[in-house]
Amino acid sequence: MKLPPPRGRLSAWLVTTLTSADPTVQCHESAPPVHVLVPDGPAWHDDDLQLALWCCYELHYRGFDDVDERWEWNPAVIGFRGMLEQRWLASLSGLGGHGAVPSAAVAGTLTGLTRRTGGPDLSGYLAREADRGQFTEYLAHRSVYQLKEADPHSFGIPRLTGPVKTALVEIQADEYGGGLPGRMHSELFRSTMRWAGLDDEYGHYVPAAPAVTLAVSNLMSVFALNRRWLGALLGHLAALEMTSTGPNRRYSAGARRLGAGEAARRYFDEHVQADAVHEQIAAHDLCGGYAAQHPGASADILFGASCCLALDDELARYLLSRWRAGRTSLVLPSAASAA
Ligand SMILES: [Fe+2]
Ligand SMILES: [Fe+2]
Repeated sequence: MKLPPPRGRLSAWLVTTLTSADPTVQCHESAPPVHVLVPDGPAWHDDDLQLALWCCYELHYRGFDDVDERWEWNPAVIGFRGMLEQRWLASLSGLGGHGAVPSAAVAGTLTGLTRRTGGPDLSGYLAREADRGQFTEYLAHRSVYQLKEADPHSFGIPRLTGPVKTALVEIQADEYGGGLPGRMHSELFRSTMRWAGLDDEYGHYVPAAPAVTLAVSNLMSVFALNRRWLGALLGHLAALEMTSTGPNRRYSAGARRLGAGEAARRYFDEHVQADAVHEQIAAHDLCGGYAAQHPGASADILFGASCCLALDDELARYLLSRWRAGRTSLVLPSAASAA
């Protein structure tokens, strides 16, 4: 993918630096101060901040066709990312989280968090009401993460030991297709995108994604790329797995209602099956096991899970409010031409 168009001074500084400066020479053009530029309000609705963060993180995944790979560890960019992350984490800390619990209570506490009710019913809307255009937009939003599905959590593998490492690898092996490239969840998602008439190229809809969609990905990346947040990364994964089977059943029903065949629905159906197992592994073997190994880690695990659930709700609220107002949920409809 190419660098997306900037949305403000932060992302403009980053895009200009990555495309016009020499990564081997010290950067003299200092980055704009994040605390001065960001508006009041939650960071997950700050387009400039989220796009700049997303681009900083992407340097550690597949990068950009128009950016020299040596920028990945450039001190000026890493320092800039650190400033963005301070603002990002400060906003996340207001999402609630949870106090520490005994390691034996971690799985049960996660179950309690993930079974909460009363949030925006996005999956119900997609199952019963969404028109084809709205369902297609939903897939475009999801593609920002789903085309690299499981990659952020894989950063946890080298940081773990013993049965906890095995638990994460067991989940990730399924996410990556169990040795069959066509069964990789990111590949199954591409099939669903093609059914909807979307472009399945990696990163294609990033320019059209609003801040809150980028924030969902940036949440995983801030936990994945900072070893200090390993517990939160595991809690985040558990929350994803533990809130997957019911919604995916409804997404599949919605896709069927809109004419999707079996192959186009396979992504959703696979998650109904696989995540019924993954949620058990994630809650007990992964998070419970990690908390038992690391007394004191439970608060981070529950923080990661709480952030995941809260941002999923924020995205759902945003999508439903746009659609109920008869508006598109994409930032730049022209950039998402297929939608
Ligand atoms: Fe998956
Ligand atoms: Fe899973």
